[in-house]
Amino acid sequence: MNVLRFSDLCNQGRASGQRVFIRADLNVPQDDAGNITEDTRIRASVPCIEMALKANAAVMVTSHLGRPTEGEFKPEDSLAPVAKRLSELLGRDVPLLRDWVGGVDVKPGQVVLLENCRVNKGEKKNNPELAQKMAALCDIFVHDAFGTAHRAEASTYGIAQYAKIACAGPLLAAEIDAITQALANPKRPLVAIVAGSKVSTKLTILKALASKVDQLIVGGGIANTFLLAAGLPIGKSLAEADLVGEARAVIEAMKARGAQVPIPTDVVTAKTFAADAVATVKAAADVAPDDLILDIGPDTAARLARQLMSAGTIVWNGPVGVFEFDAFAHGTETIARAIAQSPAFSIAGGGDTLAAIAKYGIEKDVGYISTGGGAFLEILEGKTLPAFEILTRRAAEGNR
Ligand code: 3PG
Repeated sequence: MNVLRFSDLCNQGRASGQRVFIRADLNVPQDDAGNITEDTRIRASVPCIEMALKANAAVMVTSHLGRPTEGEFKPEDSLAPVAKRLSELLGRDVPLLRDWVGGVDVKPGQVVLLENCRVNKGEKKNNPELAQKMAALCDIFVHDAFGTAHRAEASTYGIAQYAKIACAGPLLAAEIDAITQALANPKRPLVAIVAGSKVSTKLTILKALASKVDQLIVGGGIANTFLLAAGLPIGKSLAEADLVGEARAVIEAMKARGAQVPIPTDVVTAKTFAADAVATVKAAADVAPDDLILDIGPDTAARLARQLMSAGTIVWNGPVGVFEFDAFAHGTETIARAIAQSPAFSIAGGGDTLAAIAKYGIEKDVGYISTGGGAFLEILEGKTLPAFEILTRRAAEGNR
């Protein structure tokens, strides 16, 4: 990857006394009370911040949190819980600044967190004026937000165009190195697990994976669309009926290559979406019109676990059931434990996936854990992400 690396700038003493703007991805899941439920992304962002502080830079860090309405700051959009956790991890106070686009007061050796960048008007659409104002805040822009590398927004792309120097932070560099190296020549069979509720976004990616992987395990809302495509009933489960044709095309494309999309043969259903709902295991063919499919069944889970045990490489994105509810967690737990025990090299990514990994305590048994969700999938798809495109271009131009 031909990008300028922040670590090199620091090693050359070029960050000392400079104003450094770090775009991190601190978009972490929170419970209803605003408590952070999974902090991998915050922990993963710490090395870059420490690197900048050690280099005696004046450090500004920002991130998005959720998908707020631009121009309307609401308390639930605040990075305050993130600032608190970051302070604990860095062992120093991290002041949180509001309304920072016009100017930031920070001295070398200090770090400040700039409030949710997606509240700024023009952020999502990569507004040039906003990007220029952000670029004017710093001498060096560091893109370290791998989870957001697939977005071309003002704080991820525009700022990289206009900043005097634009470079890759250590997390962004490590992520791309690990994923591309692992997938350049994967040990086969290559098995991908793609699950979760973002059906329409992931279906496009599934189509791309269909030409690369040997087995494509689908779960969650995506699996429901595939069950429909296989002619099975799904009751009132979440699915996208208009994408059934696409799902069928994926199944056929895989079949034509001698590869498979293993369709669940049994499922766990409930009448309501609730933690205390009664869970019923039934054959996939027996799902009733008022059923919700909330997990794969035990036979399906055991079959998939066997396939994972004999895989060469496993790519995992998304829990296969509503694992937050214990009665519907068996499928995801079985998959997680099989990945942990499998001799295959495994790569996992995505917010819910990280939460499942933490829940079952298998962090040390996964080959590589990515902080990216959509970004992780788009790399698997073979796309050049905007972050790498702009950083490569700036490096080729010699920055300024
Ligand atoms: C993620 O959670 O995958 C990243 O933080 C990107 O978030 P976004 O999909 O809201 O851009």
